[in-house]
Amino acid sequence: MSGEQWLVQDRSPQNRLQMKALTIIPGKANSASVQDVPLPAASDGSVLVKALELGICGTDFELISADYGWAPPGSQHLIIGHESLGVVEEAPENSHLKKGDLVVGIVRRPDPVPCAACGGGQFDMCLNGKYTERGIKERNGFGSEFWRIEEDYAIRLDPGLCDVGVLMEPASVLAKAWDHITRIGERAIWKPKTVLITGAGPIGLLAALMGKQRGLDVHVLDRVTDGKKPKLVEDLGGTYYTCSVKNVGFTPDIVIECTGVAPVIAETMAHLGNDGILCLVGVSSHNQKLELDLGTINRAMVLENSAIFGSVNANKHHWQMACDALMKADRSWLAGLISRKEPLENWQEALKRRPDDIKVVIQFSKN
Ligand code: BGC
Repeated sequence: MSGEQWLVQDRSPQNRLQMKALTIIPGKANSASVQDVPLPAASDGSVLVKALELGICGTDFELISADYGWAPPGSQHLIIGHESLGVVEEAPENSHLKKGDLVVGIVRRPDPVPCAACGGGQFDMCLNGKYTERGIKERNGFGSEFWRIEEDYAIRLDPGLCDVGVLMEPASVLAKAWDHITRIGERAIWKPKTVLITGAGPIGLLAALMGKQRGLDVHVLDRVTDGKKPKLVEDLGGTYYTCSVKNVGFTPDIVIECTGVAPVIAETMAHLGNDGILCLVGVSSHNQKLELDLGTINRAMVLENSAIFGSVNANKHHWQMACDALMKADRSWLAGLISRKEPLENWQEALKRRPDDIKVVIQFSKN
């Protein structure tokens, strides 16, 4: 596609039948492309949003490499993108939204049964796995110039978050993790002081931010020895490590594992103290076989009351928690998590991993 074709498009939805969208064919590796597709169907929701930005994450790389992902029923293609930021173009009268509002879209939708969790608004805890997810599982995502959304699944943001609002989705995942860590901790008298976070990508750094906001001593471990990551941890008032977990020199009250790398997970499991909580949020790739002494792990867990649990996705309550966390955070620190913003025409560059990347964002338009 020539550069000119990208530029001459009329950006208003009224005069257009088509829009550009970042699509894949689920199950077919390296099928990512930008296609002209019809404007979003009214059945996607009553609120029409003009896309501003889209964050790229590890799940998108799994989708692109055909390790994950499902197209909407009856379609071969899936519009990807679940880390959204947009501006309302049209909203129904009497809605809590109006034209010009800054919004992000909730990713998951309840299963149609619905199970007890989905029926109670906790679709992040779906019991039967029949939930759907925008840009991931059976629903088109937010990687298109316009998208539609149901009013109830659009979160309005303070305009002050316009530069960093694209971090809301990963922040919602961490808000849930922290919510559940707290619930588990409160099974007994619990006065945590330290959190160890493995992995200093966007998820690990947002975990660190929320740990700081909870008044904890924050420790972050990553294999990268210099550059933005150690600096961001230091700026947060945390301590940065590149050693192995067993050499950090203390026993953390809470561990948040964000790498998904088997040997790191095993080390965190072996490094829990009394009443310790290990929350797993990093999604591992398949086939990472590792020999473990389960007897020793079980013995320590039982005798020390430790808890290991996994956490995925987020419900509406967590999206509000994420919004509060971003509002309270230092904006320039948050902006530092976004290492690159690439215009849509550079989408191929955006999908290439660079060593100093933290969060890469595709820019659809400017507000
Ligand atoms: C997303 C979650 C989603 C999960 C599994 C993650 O990348 O942030 O919202 O539930 O993938 O599909």
